[in-house]
Amino acid sequence: MSERRDIEIPIRELPINQLSPEDQELVAKAKEIVSGAYAPYSHFHVAAALRLESGRIVLGTNQENASYPLGLCAERTALFQSGALYPDDPVTSLVIVGAKEDGTVIKTCAPCGGCRQVMLEMADRHHHPFPVILAGPESALVVEDCRDLLPINFDATSL
Ligand code: THU
Repeated sequence: MSERRDIEIPIRELPINQLSPEDQELVAKAKEIVSGAYAPYSHFHVAAALRLESGRIVLGTNQENASYPLGLCAERTALFQSGALYPDDPVTSLVIVGAKEDGTVIKTCAPCGGCRQVMLEMADRHHHPFPVILAGPESALVVEDCRDLLPINFDATSL
């Protein structure tokens, strides 16, 4: 006998100007730096902006390499930087922005599976889940808890 269980992920869509002022600042910073991504191979630019509990902002863009698999996503660039520089300062919010090479911001840039796994570990490490905001030109999708982006996951308790 099998029992079906459904997983619900709360997501909200709202105009950027209805985000908190702190999150709007992250969106603005991500849009400011997205064109500086190093993406000569995919021509797809991504920026991540995260806020820490202290109020500090940490930014990242995707960093590609001629040896393709060595490139790193914007989210992990920012998350690892925050882990390295401010190891005891929990992440409280993460914004992701994607743009074409001509600078046009796309509607939704969803994080890859690898970055979802790293977000999960960051939330667990600080016992502090954080929202992920996928910001487009005018509106954003908000996932309240980054852990919801990776259901049935592998974490330290799996080892
Ligand atoms: N990329 C990111 O930086 N973050 C995402 O959420 C999706 C994909 C990057 C990786 C690669 O440099 C380029 O976008 C195309 O996959």
